[in-house]
Amino acid sequence: MGTSRIAGFYNLSLEERLARVADSAVLTASDLAPWSTGGLSPESADHMIENVIGLHSLPLGIALNFVVNGRDVLVPMAVEEPSVVAGASFMAKLARAGGGFQTSSSEPLMIGQMQVLHLDNLHAARLKIYEKKAELLAAADEIDPILKKFGGGARDLEVRVIEDSPIGGFLVVHLIYDVRDAMGANAVNTACERLAPQVEAITGGKVHLRILSNLADRRIARARCVIPLKELEMLGDENTLSYSGETVRDGIIAAWAFAAADPYRAATHNKGIMNGVDAVVIATGNDWRAIEAGAHAYAARSGRYTSLSTWGRDVAGNLVGSLEMPMAVGIVGGATKVHPAARAAIKLMGVQTASELAEIIVAVGLAQNLAALRALATEGIQRGHMSLHARQVAIAAGATGELIEKVAAQMVAEKMIRIDRAEELVKQLTSEQ
Ligand code: MEV
Repeated sequence: MGTSRIAGFYNLSLEERLARVADSAVLTASDLAPWSTGGLSPESADHMIENVIGLHSLPLGIALNFVVNGRDVLVPMAVEEPSVVAGASFMAKLARAGGGFQTSSSEPLMIGQMQVLHLDNLHAARLKIYEKKAELLAAADEIDPILKKFGGGARDLEVRVIEDSPIGGFLVVHLIYDVRDAMGANAVNTACERLAPQVEAITGGKVHLRILSNLADRRIARARCVIPLKELEMLGDENTLSYSGETVRDGIIAAWAFAAADPYRAATHNKGIMNGVDAVVIATGNDWRAIEAGAHAYAARSGRYTSLSTWGRDVAGNLVGSLEMPMAVGIVGGATKVHPAARAAIKLMGVQTASELAEIIVAVGLAQNLAALRALATEGIQRGHMSLHARQVAIAAGATGELIEKVAAQMVAEKMIRIDRAEELVKQLTSEQ
């Protein structure tokens, strides 16, 4: 992989951008070809879900400037919202000046749950399961020979007592399973279903639900970054104010404190993180509902919903940020393997393991969070949205080709982004051509 800094990328044509990305990533244009068509054929889609009648597309953009653990990486993002890709790229550039993102992750451990009902003595049944733990783990370990071959398998078993619920007490058995490079839902669900008769025989109870938990708090990915103070300085122009690095830094920290203290703000703050996270999760064909569920449950793990990230300052006065969250993504199996665009995404990032992918995703989430907080703590987010919004309005007013930029630029300069004004400008500029 070459550099993830590609100057002037924004101004290139789609074909030129694809060529530059292929060039930087030392890939061929055909490796990235799925993105020119959307990748998925209706025939393969028909094998993926039920009642298929067609396909649904999203824009695919490349986040630039990312350095993760010293390695440059070009990050594919599938997202419909303007400013997300630009925000991540810009913040990755600031982070790059501080050495990029440092990341780490836990082992890829997923949790499978078994709900055991109809027990006379919950505590005795709990201990009986522990007495047979080795046996149960050995049996669970044999269930997925492929995972086992790659070093995965059953790792631990825990039994929780739910004393009181609307239906009375029951036990919850957690099977901890190392799923290596898979997302793991299939492996864990299968293991729980297969193990259930043994748990019933041991306890005399009835195993009711057997299903993975999306609160994947044993499968955590972490990212942190240092933003040098001078990178935070914002120089204004005739339309915008200037902000010193200290003002921006302290504004970001105050914005984070708001999210840390208030669930109403934390939900929006975390949504900003998920703008980045989901875009990469979707681009790689992973299950973004699982990631969303895990993220928000994890954010509420203390009993009060709070920020997933933290922001503060180091002794030198630089801004430091960190993000830690569950990240159950895979690079084998499911859509990650079937969807040609997802395969291109994995190839572009050059990731060899699911953990590596998880770490890149969390770095993008942290960058995205920074983009939102920096904008909110200074000029607000609307100005950044303006030019893209203006272009969309120009297109809706009938502008094509070079006229789109001209109409949009004029509306931004006039601070009047309205369809009627766009229509006037289209007429006026067309007659001048
Ligand atoms: C918009 O999609 C995301 C933000 O609302 C995130 C935030 O407020 O931190 C800008």
